[in-house]
Amino acid sequence: MLTQRKPVTATAPAPDPGDSSAGTEAPPPARLSTLRGAWRRLSLRWDVVLIVLTSLICLIGLRYFSMSNTATSQPRLFDEGTLALYNGRKNSPLYLALLGEVFDVTKGRRHYDGGKGYGGFVGRDASKAFVTGDFTNDLTDDVKDLSPEAYKSLVEWRAFYHKEYTYKGRLVGRLYDGKGQPTRLLRAVQEGATKAKSEEEAQRELEAKLPACNVRWTEAEGGTVWCDGGAHPRKVFLQLPGGKPTTRCACFAEIGWSDLRQIYPDCSPEAHTCKVS
Ligand code: HEM
Repeated sequence: MLTQRKPVTATAPAPDPGDSSAGTEAPPPARLSTLRGAWRRLSLRWDVVLIVLTSLICLIGLRYFSMSNTATSQPRLFDEGTLALYNGRKNSPLYLALLGEVFDVTKGRRHYDGGKGYGGFVGRDASKAFVTGDFTNDLTDDVKDLSPEAYKSLVEWRAFYHKEYTYKGRLVGRLYDGKGQPTRLLRAVQEGATKAKSEEEAQRELEAKLPACNVRWTEAEGGTVWCDGGAHPRKVFLQLPGGKPTTRCACFAEIGWSDLRQIYPDCSPEAHTCKVS
């Protein structure tokens, strides 16, 4: 038979009426109080340890994820053979490369599919044809002998594909090496494009400063230059940074002239229209 046990509560011994310290708590022995203090301090430290550990785990986790992201953000490398498979045949996607960067142009199928006008661009890098317009002989990435202006145009085409289509990776060949790094040729393309761009900007600034004259040429009359708004035509001598010296007609509000701003022969300094040979 089970007997129910009453819970036992510890009771403090009754104070001894003869004890003068009765009613006040007796101080714990010195050793016990030191141990209690140490334990309290130790408990506090556990909190700190927990926080430090959690932060460490977070840091390690973050580092791991950032490393794995870096690994996955490496561009995919294509070789010519693999890129050639993305030519739209057997319903494959359409890829093309421009300056060694590969793009999925499937959504522009109407331009690139099969015998369509720009079909020769898919499955390969045909950068040269983008600037020569020769879609038969220049379907190649051999862009080594092109002008800085052509390089600028190629860089603009590349920006167009980045904007309009999906970037897929790099083509190992003339423009990217086996590790996916730009080759010397690609660096030359970038430098040429930058040079052409700054020359164009200088030209535009100059045009803004020196408005061009109106020009007309007929067999009967020969050449004529004239300025609107009461300005005067002058033959100016220009030297653009990196360019050849050149001359052209510019309009000036003031009637002044110099070696670099000449009056046209047989034309008065005040004239608004001059005959030119
Ligand atoms: C160097 C010469 C040329 C190159 C490299 C070139 C290249 C291209 C490319 C790649 C596209 C497709 C763009 C896309 O994916 O959206 C395109 C579209 C087009 N091109 Fe050309 N093109 C050239 C010359 C010309 C010329 C001379 C004409 C006109 C006489 C022309 C008319 C067009 C038209 C009408 C479109 C279609 C625009 C549209 O439907 O959105 N192209 N061109």
